[in-house]
Amino acid sequence: MITGHGDVPMAVEAMRLGAMDFMEKPFNPDRLTELAKRATQARRMTLDNRALRRDLSEGQQVMSKLVGVSPVMERLREDILDLGQADGHVLIDGETGTGKTLVAHALHAVGPRASKKFVPISCAAYTDELLSAKLFGPVEAGLPAVEEARGGTLCLEDIEMLSEPLQARLLAFIAEQGIPAETRIIAISNARAEGRKLEEALRPDLFYRLSALKITLPPLRSRGEDILALFARMSEQFSDEYGCEPPQVTAQEAAQLLQAPWPGNVRQLINVAERAVLQNRRGTGSITSLLLADGDDNQEATTTEGKPLKEYVESFEKMLIDNTMRRHKGSISAVMDELCLPRRTLNEKWLNTA
Ligand SMILES: Nc1ncnc2c1ncn2[C@@H]1O[C@H](COP(=O)(O)OP(=O)(O)OP(=O)(O)O)[C@@H](O)[C@H]1O
Ligand SMILES: [Mg+2]
Repeated sequence: MITGHGDVPMAVEAMRLGAMDFMEKPFNPDRLTELAKRATQARRMTLDNRALRRDLSEGQQVMSKLVGVSPVMERLREDILDLGQADGHVLIDGETGTGKTLVAHALHAVGPRASKKFVPISCAAYTDELLSAKLFGPVEAGLPAVEEARGGTLCLEDIEMLSEPLQARLLAFIAEQGIPAETRIIAISNARAEGRKLEEALRPDLFYRLSALKITLPPLRSRGEDILALFARMSEQFSDEYGCEPPQVTAQEAAQLLQAPWPGNVRQLINVAERAVLQNRRGTGSITSLLLADGDDNQEATTTEGKPLKEYVESFEKMLIDNTMRRHKGSISAVMDELCLPRRTLNEKWLNTA
């Protein structure tokens, strides 16, 4: 506020209404410049913070979708937060349904590019010619992907399907970008699952650039602790959705869930959970029959990798306590009675699992 007729009450009122400062004429130009600079900076910081908060909450939303208590999942969460802040391109690999696409979104959402676009393109979904146009133009309407993703994230799914000529163009695009790259590339591959190594599907210079940072998602069968946690969370969600009670998993069914090979990983588990909820609503069938039906479609993939006994036992205990707790509507003493557990042990186990 600048005025020739100021007094103290007016100054106070101006500040109260949000003025940065109050100056009387004649004013000193240097001081005015200085004040304006500071005001601009303060404003920018407010705006940045506002954006940061919004980004953070969106990022947290994506992160909260990630279920899992295994050490692998804990490490994955940390990796996402770290790599989300980094600048290098990222390669994500893992079997189908392990969460690669979800993790790609999370990486974008927790990082500084969150306010810019996340542009996913599948290299397997188009002919070479069409893919070339989609990526680099010309396109009939809108922008080619590399333009649309400028400053944000270009997510290339099924990267192993990229033809040699397009690999060369992508490499040129990457080289043009400088360091740090304006547009981050997240490449997704499940070449390994198809018995092919990504190193062999891509030219080495491109492979090297894309895999500056790498996240490998482990198959579900190697994350024993997560299986029952995911099943519980998903069947709760579906029960809410369908307006019914979540199925009670028997001890035998839990053991089967833990030992199933899960060739379709988390996606398959979500399907099984949904069907279990629907079955339960109708009051028919068992989880066992669902697993067996699933196994028939995937005969070749029925090898089960070993898991440490401790993992089986812990996830089993957790499930039992959860179920008993639910059945007794949270009554600790009833759970202590039924499972013959002293309060202290129950507290420890319950706290560990809650
Ligand atoms: N840790 C997790 N917690 C909760 N949901 C998950 C987790 N991992 C994956 N999902 C869910 O499982 C499903 C499959 O995940 P996603 O689509 O990311 O797998 P993908 O590896 O990209 O599979 P594909 O190779 O077939 O494209 C999605 O619905 C996803 O939200
Ligand atoms: Mg995917």
